[in-house]
Amino acid sequence: MSTAKQAIGIFDSGIGGLTVAKAVRALLPGEPIIYVGDTARVPYGIKSEETVQRYAAEITKFLRRQDVKMIIIACNTVSAAALSVVQEQAGSVPVLDVISSGAEAALAHNDPAAHIGIIGTLATVHSKAYQRALLNLRQDISITAEACPLLVPLAEEGWIDHPVTRQTLRIYLESFRNKSIDRLILGCTHYPLFKSVIREVGGFQEDQLIDSAEVIARHARRLLTERNLLHPSDQPGDFTCYVSDRPQRFMELAERFLGDSVEADVIREWE
Ligand code: DGL
Repeated sequence: MSTAKQAIGIFDSGIGGLTVAKAVRALLPGEPIIYVGDTARVPYGIKSEETVQRYAAEITKFLRRQDVKMIIIACNTVSAAALSVVQEQAGSVPVLDVISSGAEAALAHNDPAAHIGIIGTLATVHSKAYQRALLNLRQDISITAEACPLLVPLAEEGWIDHPVTRQTLRIYLESFRNKSIDRLILGCTHYPLFKSVIREVGGFQEDQLIDSAEVIARHARRLLTERNLLHPSDQPGDFTCYVSDRPQRFMELAERFLGDSVEADVIREWE
């Protein structure tokens, strides 16, 4: 039986999920958060479904041992490849994933005959999980998806508004040109960092870009409210990070993704 004072567990393949943690902290500042980044095994976006499922199961077991009241899958690749594995391991702990949230948000505007664009890692785009989630909600839509694998290393390198990034985006976003895309789903943890460059290079308005980090934070608040699990504190909740590799690089990059500095403990054993 969960109680309001337990933490929210958020996990990702590495550092990118801090964009989701940032949105959750902004909306639910009193909530204690336990963040897990699998920095030893990142990136997940180029790995097979079986491998991502195995990693996701291990992390979910770890989070259950931390006694979290909710699990948020911040990683699009895990949401695409391993949602049911996480749900199974989570038992009675509710699980939110960025793909269900992102798909709902992309269709919330009720654009007539909507054309939805998706960008994500190779694994996310090839899994067609976003496409399925969108079509489950509405069938009279068109979808164009493009894998953008180079954007993750560019974000981690800090090349946000950089000529190489602009040129890379020009090439990736070419498939959306002249297609009257209504909404573009930023289907990867790292892409919110590129929002303004994507708008500029792709010619999108702000409300056309769907940032699942903000949406999933709102879903988390709704679910916790419904279940009477909102933390009662008006003080900022603890933010605890666990990583699977040496924490130095994680701590160096964290500020760019979280907007705050962090300390991180190393997970020695998953089991
Ligand atoms: N966190 C991953 C995602 O959102 C991106 C990084 C990776 O490939 O592991 O898909």
